[in-house]
Amino acid sequence: MSFRIQPAAPARPNRCQLFGPGSNTKLFPKMAASAADVINLDLEDSVAPSDKDSARANIIEALNTIDWNTKYMSVRINGLDTPYWYRDVVDLMEQAGDRIDQIMIPKVGCAADVYAVDALVTAIERAKGRTKPISFEVIIESAAGLAHVEEIAASSPRMQAMSLGAADFAASMGMQTTGIGGTQENYYMLHEGEKHWSDPWHWAQAAIVAACRTHGVLPVDGPFGDFSDDEGYIAQAKRSATLGMVGKWAIHPKQIGLANEVFTPSEEAVAEAREILAAMETAKANGEGATVYKGRLVDIASIKQAEVIVAQSELIAAG
Ligand code: COA
Ligand code: MG
Repeated sequence: MSFRIQPAAPARPNRCQLFGPGSNTKLFPKMAASAADVINLDLEDSVAPSDKDSARANIIEALNTIDWNTKYMSVRINGLDTPYWYRDVVDLMEQAGDRIDQIMIPKVGCAADVYAVDALVTAIERAKGRTKPISFEVIIESAAGLAHVEEIAASSPRMQAMSLGAADFAASMGMQTTGIGGTQENYYMLHEGEKHWSDPWHWAQAAIVAACRTHGVLPVDGPFGDFSDDEGYIAQAKRSATLGMVGKWAIHPKQIGLANEVFTPSEEAVAEAREILAAMETAKANGEGATVYKGRLVDIASIKQAEVIVAQSELIAAG
């Protein structure tokens, strides 16, 4: 272990982030009644330029009037390359009351992007005497975002979560795909004449997880566009969970249950983790640092792996 202890990520469930356009108010009560842990009301790319002002007003009204219960409430503002973002921040901070928990900043390219929003948010918090600090989540969805992923994860004490936005990322990277996440036809290895598909998102995801874990931020997988493809969504979510991500976006209600299922450790996984911890307790009592569990080696590192699973399950049970 480095001399620096790895900070813990925020202790709240973040298995599913449900998105809805700020211009589509009829979705809001359905989102509030859903099983998603986090709600993302959108001002950015699902809202047409002509609707930006009305969508902002809709979201402010919804935050003030709808019963969002225990949901973690996040609003995606417009990118820093647009004329809209400052008004998004000012109006939300001045008018959305205390029900807003988080601001999502899209297309972040460097730590200074987060600094700019932080400066504005901090000034308004002080001016208005707001006592509940607003947290930040960001989307890594450009070449610059990924190149600077670690400084972005470290950019502000407000940082709580970071998502991969596959579609904008692919465009920025010049990737030859129009899909939003998932398997890509031309990304395969050839073995004895047979195609074996690989995961073109793997590198970006792993880089995000490493940056997040280094700085105590929740790593999250972004959208999966084809909401008629449950199997594809589950496969993508399972790969993300295996890599250390804690949740995934839903852009349609049918994806919520899929995300919750994948990102809630199964009873069997939790039982096995507890058995490994018990086996290691026995080993420790016998003065051993390693032992055998179900025919395989477990050692002190296994304790940490098992603790991740138990902690995740307890967190979800408490939420
Ligand atoms: N949240 C809550 N409920 C939603 C929803 C959402 N994001 N999207 C759809 N629903 C509801 C519909 O209102 C409908 O409800 P009903 O049965 O009471 O009529 C039901 O779920 C089935 O919806 P469906 O008809 O299959 O989809 P649609 O054509 O109404 O909407 C989308 C499809 C993709 C336009 C819509 O899901 C959407 O806007 N998603 C979010 C897009 C977004 O926010 N993108 C930005 C992030 S990438
Ligand atoms: Mg995007």
